[in-house]
Amino acid sequence: MRQAGRHLPEYRDVRGKGSILDVLRDPDRVTEITLQPVHRYGVDAAILYSDIVVTAHAVGFGIDVVEGVGPMAESPLRTPADLDRLRPLEPEVDTPWVTAAVKQCVSELDIPLIGFAGAPFTVASYLIEGRPSRDHLQTKQLMHTDPQLFAAIADRLADHAITHLHAQVSAGVSAVQLFDSWVGALSPSDFQRFVFEPTTKIITAAKSMGVPVIYFGVGTSELLSLMAKTGADVLGVDWRVPLDSAWSRIGYDRAIQGNLDPALCLSPWPEVKQGIDDILAAAGDRAGHIFNLGHGVLPPTDPATMQQVVDYVHAQTARQ
Ligand code: CP3
Repeated sequence: MRQAGRHLPEYRDVRGKGSILDVLRDPDRVTEITLQPVHRYGVDAAILYSDIVVTAHAVGFGIDVVEGVGPMAESPLRTPADLDRLRPLEPEVDTPWVTAAVKQCVSELDIPLIGFAGAPFTVASYLIEGRPSRDHLQTKQLMHTDPQLFAAIADRLADHAITHLHAQVSAGVSAVQLFDSWVGALSPSDFQRFVFEPTTKIITAAKSMGVPVIYFGVGTSELLSLMAKTGADVLGVDWRVPLDSAWSRIGYDRAIQGNLDPALCLSPWPEVKQGIDDILAAAGDRAGHIFNLGHGVLPPTDPATMQQVVDYVHAQTARQ
């Protein structure tokens, strides 16, 4: 999940100072950072070191990622004229360093590499708010005041995501994840009205590229059955919903990813172990559970605890 690196001293060493968006132009450093948690912990898949605002940045929208804050746009997206700042993405010209990094990672890994993109709602919320937001007020206001403009924004962002995922799949990623981290801010009816169509467009396109598609959001309990209707092969869930109720909402024909509370990883081991045991019990003997945290690794997490988590899950789930 996001920002696995932030709790690793070796990440901070390679990362240096300045915007993450500058580091991402250097395939050697991207490869090294992507491989760090794999080498340290022995996890079963790697996720490309990148960010969900890479595409908007690359087409010149005017957005940066400020350390300790998150994505910031000096001039947020508010009017139809701002749509001009979201021209189509041309991966060969705009993001050749992503393709180069994927190829380099794949050549050095003997486990699958997961590529990813930001989903329309979550990326739109950063462009419209201009900064990380708790309530997403500007975004919701724009949706309901000018639904046509919101639809046009979401459709352009869907096209960015499709093009970006296609470039990553062509370069060799084995699966893709669509991050819709903040979609849980929406009511089911707003999800249906504003988000379902552009998101389904991406998931349908990604599936046709021949790789499994994971769709992830935080606080999505009431949205899960709608999210499953997008056709995603795997739904990623956070700890606010018990894994077994989430799975019954999604349907057992889909896989599920989750859902240990990252904050629990700051607790004494017996507490962490209990949290893991509960999740594994909820998954039962069913195939199709990808064990994961419900969201990103928190910076104060002790790497020794993460190692215990990985080793314990492996020991508990090893099959003959
Ligand atoms: O584990 C990984 O590092 C994988 C790569 C990854 C990053 N961002 C690197 C990153 C992934 C998958 C993301 C996706 C991302 N970016 C999401 C979706 C997933 C999620 O976390 O919900 C979102 C919402 C963002 C936007 C974003 N980028 C935020 C809110 C921040 C935090 C700012 C901060 O400093 O706390 C970032 C920056 C960011 N992206 C970091 C990393 C490793 C943090 C620090 C840095 O700049 O090095």
